[in-house]
Amino acid sequence: MDRVEELKREAGIAACSFVSNGMRIGLGTGSTVKYTVIEIARMISEEGIDVIGVPTSESTRELAEGLGIPLSTLEEASPLDITIDGADEFDSDFQLIKGGGGALTREKRVAEKSGAMVVVADDRKQVETLGEFDLPLEVRKYDWQNVSEQLQRICPGQVSLRGGESPYVTDNGGYILDCRFGPTISDPASMENQIKSIDGVVEVGLFVDMCDAVVMAATSGVATLLKQGGRLA
Ligand code: 5RP
Repeated sequence: MDRVEELKREAGIAACSFVSNGMRIGLGTGSTVKYTVIEIARMISEEGIDVIGVPTSESTRELAEGLGIPLSTLEEASPLDITIDGADEFDSDFQLIKGGGGALTREKRVAEKSGAMVVVADDRKQVETLGEFDLPLEVRKYDWQNVSEQLQRICPGQVSLRGGESPYVTDNGGYILDCRFGPTISDPASMENQIKSIDGVVEVGLFVDMCDAVVMAATSGVATLLKQGGRLA
C-alpha cells in the first residue's frame, strides 16, 4: 500500500470513533470512505454493534452489501444520526467541494438528513480557498449544453462534460460538468445559489455549512478537526 493509500485508510478507520451502537449512518462514496465502510463491517462482525447504513451511491451499496452491513434507504431510515463521507477539498470554515466520484446529489441528500457530517480525508484536501479542484455539478442529461453556456457568465475557466464523447452517467441518470474556477471560491454559499438558479442544474458540489468535523490523516498523524459551534463540538 503506498503512503497516500495508507493515509486514506488511517482517516477512514479513525472516523469510526464517531460510530456507536444503534446508529443509522450515511455511507459516503470514494476511495477514503471505503475504509470507513470496511471498518464498520468489522465492528459489526467482531464487536457486535448493530447499525444501519444508507449508501450514497450504487458503488457504496455494492461494497457495503458485500461486507454484510444492513442497509436501508434514505426514505425509510431518515433522519440519520451521522454521515461519514470523503471530500475533494475542505477549507478552514469546513466548507467542501465534493463530487469527484460523481455521487454529489445523493451525498448531499443523505448529509442533509443527518444529525452530523464527518469528512474523511488526507491532508492534500485541505485548502485555503476552494476551487483548485474543478467544481462538479450534476446536470439534467438533455440540458448540459445549455447549462454549460450559462456557466460562462459565472465560471472564468473551462467547463467540461465529464467523460467527453462517452459521458459519465450518474446513478440518477444525469451528467457531470466539471467547472474550472481555480482557487477563487471565497463565498461558496452565494456561488452555490448562483449556479443553482440555472435551469438544468440538478445539484452543485459545494457543501455549505454541512460538515461538522474532518478526520484528516497526514504523515505526522491523524487529527480530528471539530467545527466550532458545529453539531459535534
Ligand atoms: C464522490 C465524492 C468523494 O467523496 C470525493 O471525490 C473524495 O473521494 P476520495 O476519497 O476517493 O478522494 O465526493 O462523489
